Amino acid sequence: MKTSIALFASLLSASNAFAPNAGITNRLNMELYSTAVEIEPKEAVKVFGRLAEKYIMLDDSGGMCCYSACSDCEFRLPGGGYKMADQSSARPKWIPSYPERKFESMDKEHITAWSTQIFTDGPMVTKEKFVERVKEMKFNPPLGGPYMSASAAGIEDESTIERLFDVLRGEKENLTQHRMSTRIKEIAKGNEGLIWSDFIAALTGEE
Ligand SMILES: *[C@@H]1O[C@H](CO)[C@@H](O)[C@H](O)[C@H]1NC(C)=O
Repeated sequence: MKTSIALFASLLSASNAFAPNAGITNRLNMELYSTAVEIEPKEAVKVFGRLAEKYIMLDDSGGMCCYSACSDCEFRLPGGGYKMADQSSARPKWIPSYPERKFESMDKEHITAWSTQIFTDGPMVTKEKFVERVKEMKFNPPLGGPYMSASAAGIEDESTIERLFDVLRGEKENLTQHRMSTRIKEIAKGNEGLIWSDFIAALTGEE
């Protein structure tokens, strides 16, 4: 059921998100996920392809791990291995949960696109500014979701970005950079980066 997303773009609206007669699949969805919202995957991928990146720093210790097999090391996995410090992908794959991260020991730094392009004039944005700024971000065809070329990825229908804002802000009116960071991590089920499947699940209310 996780992938059954109703395709009724014309019915998208923040205040009236449910289609009254959208068919059996949708009704079933509504019963199972009473907070489900209809999101068009082709619209969602336009947003994901703006926020996602090809590089992520996975190690939230910021490179503190010395990889010397210390017995009480908090960075080791239950199987005895280590968390990888960072990872790259040929296509944008993750929306990093952090605004920026540094690995002092490796002399590496990653400043995320979302933190610099959404929070351009301070640590808080209104819904209006969020929508405007996400829309202006550069799109790259990401890993996950329906294929979308950059030339077809212009955003006319803003409802998906508005929905993302609502998912991130929770009860607050505006969104802070800190809140965006912690919510991304929550939606990503505790992972350092948000991948497509968790992104679309959060938008449709199946988080
Ligand atoms: C949200 O941001 C706007 C614009 O900066 C501000 O006027 C408003 O008071 C803020 N709302 C809250 C609840 O902080």
